[in-house]
Amino acid sequence: MKLTNQEFEKIRSLLHDKFGISLADHKMAMVTGRLRKIIMQKGFSSFSEFIDSVQEDGSGRELQVLIDRMSTNHTFFFREKQHFDFFSSHILPEITHSLDKKGSGDLRIWCAAASTGEEPYSIMMTMLEFFKDRYRGLTAGLLATDISSRVLEDACAGIYEDSKTKGIPENLRKRYLQPAGNDSWQFKEFVRKEIIFRKFNLMNPFPFKKQFNVIFCRNVMIYFDTATRKELIKRLYQATAPGGYLLVGHSESIRSSDCPYDYVQPAIFRKGESG
Ligand SMILES: C[S@@+](CC[C@H](N)C(=O)[O-])C[C@H]1O[C@@H](n2cnc3c(N)ncnc32)[C@H](O)[C@@H]1O
Repeated sequence: MKLTNQEFEKIRSLLHDKFGISLADHKMAMVTGRLRKIIMQKGFSSFSEFIDSVQEDGSGRELQVLIDRMSTNHTFFFREKQHFDFFSSHILPEITHSLDKKGSGDLRIWCAAASTGEEPYSIMMTMLEFFKDRYRGLTAGLLATDISSRVLEDACAGIYEDSKTKGIPENLRKRYLQPAGNDSWQFKEFVRKEIIFRKFNLMNPFPFKKQFNVIFCRNVMIYFDTATRKELIKRLYQATAPGGYLLVGHSESIRSSDCPYDYVQPAIFRKGESG
């Protein structure tokens, strides 16, 4: 089954219009590789038949199949470790100090492209290590979202092959994970229950009633074009509480003209106290 230029263009438009994802011209082989098997499994005889079914399906299920196959979900524990160090040494102390001053324990964190969960669990372990017993006194919430339901299922289960947990320091692995058979580990229930996993498309209007103290939106904007990125940053800014932080991937350059946040250090931005 061969992907024609015209079919590639249609898939490109769908991914861009629905999910903000921009595919470069040279990604034709990748699209073919990622979609061919599922298209054959579904009994379609061409890419066009599959594209038509995505476009005609009002339920959005076929579109979900498309994004589940097409999203790139590469991630690992404590990716870009400097972020977790800064989160623990600067962001959490600063935000808890200002929440303490207000007599509030309402700490709200959003991990906006959570993939298979390595990032939100890294955030949660960092928070639990930082707060220790104080954690229970907070009404802290970690929301972890992604557009792919396939990866979110894995994230919710919190089970990882032994090799994937190598990035977790041994003392943390002992504290927060338990053996789950088949050479794998699972996050203990008390950790899993602290994270709310939800499907959410970053291209949709944000439904949040309250702002977040910290937003991790890392290694997803690389898939978006400049205009989409700029628009998203504007909305992330609105969703950030005064004095709150945005963390993006180190390879995601944000032009200062496109960025209402104050620059803190590479890939870390802060919203001014006056909002
Ligand atoms: C490469 S992973 C990054 C994972 C993690 N943030 C990290 O830095 O390791 C990118 C994730 O963004 C998700 N994604 C792509 N487009 C999205 C969109 N429009 N809305 C929400 N998530 C999206 C993908 O499903 C994928 O899981």
